[in-house]
Formats: sequence, C-alpha cells, structure tokens
Amino acid sequence: MTSQTLREARKYEEASEKMITRIERPAFHLSPRTGWMNDPNGFSWYDGKYHLFYQYNPYASQWGPMHWGHAVSDDLLHWEYLPAALAPDEACDRDGCFSGSAVTLPDGRQLLMYTGVVRERQANGGYSEVQTQCLAVGDGVDYEKYEKNPVLDEKDIPEGSSRYDFRDPKMWQEEDGSYRCVVGNRAADGSGQILLFSSPDGFEWQYEKVLAGNHGRFGRMWECPDFFPLDGKWVLVVSPQDMLPSGFEYHNGNGTLCLIGEYCRETGEFTEMSDQSVDYGIDFYAPQTILTPDGRRVMIGWMQNWDTCNHRRKQEEAWFGQMSLPRELSIKEGRLYQNPIRELEEMRTGRVSYDNIIVSGTVRLEGIRGRRIDMELTVRPVEGCDLYRKFAVRFAQNELYYTSLSFRPGESVLKVDRKFSGSRRAIIHQRRSMVKHRGGELKLRMVLDRFSVEVFVNDGEQALSAVLYTDQEADGISFIADGTVSLDVTKYDLV
Ligand code: FRU
Repeated sequence: MTSQTLREARKYEEASEKMITRIERPAFHLSPRTGWMNDPNGFSWYDGKYHLFYQYNPYASQWGPMHWGHAVSDDLLHWEYLPAALAPDEACDRDGCFSGSAVTLPDGRQLLMYTGVVRERQANGGYSEVQTQCLAVGDGVDYEKYEKNPVLDEKDIPEGSSRYDFRDPKMWQEEDGSYRCVVGNRAADGSGQILLFSSPDGFEWQYEKVLAGNHGRFGRMWECPDFFPLDGKWVLVVSPQDMLPSGFEYHNGNGTLCLIGEYCRETGEFTEMSDQSVDYGIDFYAPQTILTPDGRRVMIGWMQNWDTCNHRRKQEEAWFGQMSLPRELSIKEGRLYQNPIRELEEMRTGRVSYDNIIVSGTVRLEGIRGRRIDMELTVRPVEGCDLYRKFAVRFAQNELYYTSLSFRPGESVLKVDRKFSGSRRAIIHQRRSMVKHRGGELKLRMVLDRFSVEVFVNDGEQALSAVLYTDQEADGISFIADGTVSLDVTKYDLV
C-alpha cells in the first residue's frame, strides 16, 4: 500500500519535472527528477536493468525531508525516471529515509535497507536524530516497508557507540547465500567506525564486529561505507566528515577515501594496507559500487561537496545535485584506478584529432570546443627546449568565463580552477593534486557534460571532478604553455 506521503511526492515530481527542459540538465549524468539530490542509494542490477536510487527532496532544491528518488538504465548513461520509491511515512523513519542499499532476494524480490531517522527532543530543548536500519521489499517500482522495522538499532551496536550517528547500510550477498552489511557509526571516543553485520536471509540481522576504526585519523564520523573485493584485495570506501588536509590528500573537508587491504571472510578481519583519496577534485562524495553482470566493479558518487552547496546556477532552480560518471575500478600497484565506463565510448561522435601541435603561448584548434565532450590530451616537452613551466587547458570559455586545468611539471602539480566559471560566491573553487609524469609527459582525459568536468589522469591513476555552472554558450577551449610543449589532442562529441 502506497502511503499518502509517497503518493503526494509521486504526483508532485511528475508535474514539476515537466518544468525542466532537457538542455537544462546534464545529458548523461543523473540529476534529480525535480528538487534536490544527494547520495546514490540502492545502486543495483535488478530484473534486467541498472537501478539507481538517490537521496531526494522533491519539494525544493535544498536538502529537506529525505525520500528515495529512483531511476533505471541499460547502460548507466541514459536514465529513465521511475516514481519515488520511499517516503518518510512510518514511525521508524518519519524524519527521513537516509542512505542505504539494495540486494536481490532468492524469491526474486528486491530488498532495500536504509537508515530511518527520528528526531528526539534533548534536555536542552534541541533535537538529535536517532538513526536505525530499516527494510523495504519490492518489485523494482513499488516497495513495502517491513512490518518489523527497524531491524538494527541501538541494541545492536557496541557499548558506548552513538545511536545518533549510525547510518548508511551497504549490503551484499555472500556465495553461501547469506548477507552482510557495513554501516557507518561513531565509537565512544567520537571517532568514525564501520560496523559489520550478518544475516542468513536479509531480514534477521546480527552484529558481528568493528570492521575498521578511524581512531582519530581521517575526520570524525565516517559516512556511506562500501566494501568489496577488487583485483585480489578488498577495498573499504568511506566518506569521512570534517577531515584535516594532509599534504595533497584529503583537502575536501567532507571527502571520500579508500582503505585497501586484505579481508578474511571466516573471521571478518580486515587488515588495512594503504589509504588514498578517491577523487582529487572538488566535488565527489558518498559513492556506491556494483558488480555488473559481466564482472566489472563500477562506482558512482554524488558529484558535489557538502561544503560548496552554495555554488549554484541561481537561487531559484528546479534541480540541484548530480551523480558522477560511472567509473570502472581496478587496483594497480596497490592504488585505486578509475576510468569512465567503457559504454561511454559508444556515445562518441565527431572525432577531431591533432598530433604533435607545438604550443608556446596560446593556441586554439579548429573543431576543438564543446560542453558535452570526451577529450584526450597528451602533453610532453619538446626536444631541444627547456622543460616547460606550465601547461593549461581552458574550457567552458568565452570572453567572460573559463575553467582551467593547469599542470606545472616542476612541482608535479595539476590544478583545477573554476574561479572564473561564473560563480558569484567566494567559496573554494580550486583544488591542487600531485600527479605522476615522465619528465613532463602527462596524459589527461576530460569528460564534460554541460555542468561538470571529470578528469582522469594517466589512464585512471587519479580522478578529479568539479561541477561548473557556466552559461552553455561558453564552449571554447584553448591551450596555453609557459615554455614550449608538444600536444596531442583527440576530441569527441558525446551524444
Ligand atoms: C551523506 C549523508 C548520509 C545520510 C544522507 C542524508 O551525504 O549525510 O550519511 O544518510 O547524507 O541525506
């Protein structure tokens, strides 16, 4: 039975989506049907399609009462909206259906686990949100909340751990058919920790252990965990709040990192070996992964940063928030690699390519422009010339605006900067990252989709994402060298 709250949300989104024309949205990055979007939820392959749910406030382009929006796709690039899947309409979730995940049950139904939020009056008159884990079961369109909700609450967490910070369950199924999930939580010392739970059937859950603890290393609370095997290792992805920068890592305040290590399925023991930022740009948070039917591990994140949500197109806008490109993951030499899913290549048309262009000063190239493009660049020093000091590509450019990606080989630093992208807000608009290069040779792939750029460095060694709201007419691209470089460029339009 659909509740009144959900029926209203469905009616509202159907009517107000019509107010948004296609060109006002990204073309192949999922944006909310209407209103506000944050984290990807319930990312899954179900009944012959990819399903992606998302944290959703249909009624405003601001965070608010959390619903789950819903969309499906055959290739993770072309999305079709389905009616909102969950609304805050039960005693266990009346103040929000927060992030969670999805698995398929043996009987073919889809099981969603999400965080139910209930505001609780505190002695000082303020409110805190009590968080529990809840279930809903459905057929890929309509979901029925489980009558025994919540299935995990304060009774199921270690002594002293916070019942106010206990959220974002990510489930998976083991080979023996049983289920596991990881949930973000705060330990008695206030530091983030990831709890592991198990279930024989997806409905009865029990606490196993602390899978990983922050112990004051990376920020405070750890949100939105994901945990999966990849190339012989196990990867724990978490999104810590309130991080301190360390060298060139963890500059985002709220950012996403991964811990790569070994996991023993019998004991549930995770042994960390290394840590790194997942995205070195400005906008990336709370990602989820799936295993595709052909065995690829693919990740989608919220292409946004909580700290820069005032960076908007305009105050009154019909939608806010978008997902990142789906990225294929791998591990090479102990590091996480990310590349756009290969299906993106099927959208390529209008190839324009140049080899060995000598750039000294500013160069524009015939046919190289656009705001929905996939562009590969290789930049290298020129024999007989000194090592160049700086190479930059300016894009989304017109007389007034541009965003730039610049590289200084002497410092090994790549910088994305959207200060001149048209934003009228004095918030963080740039990020610098250390990159590897061979004597000044660097490979970049840039994917633009109207309101964003995602950069993949050296065939996936690093990714940098940033949203930009520059007028769409600003579609120029230019290349600039301080010194002399040789440049190869291949650009495709994405349609
Ligand atoms: C992360 C997050 C989650 C929570 C959701 C609420 O961005 O804070 O921890 O479930 O957003 O919308």
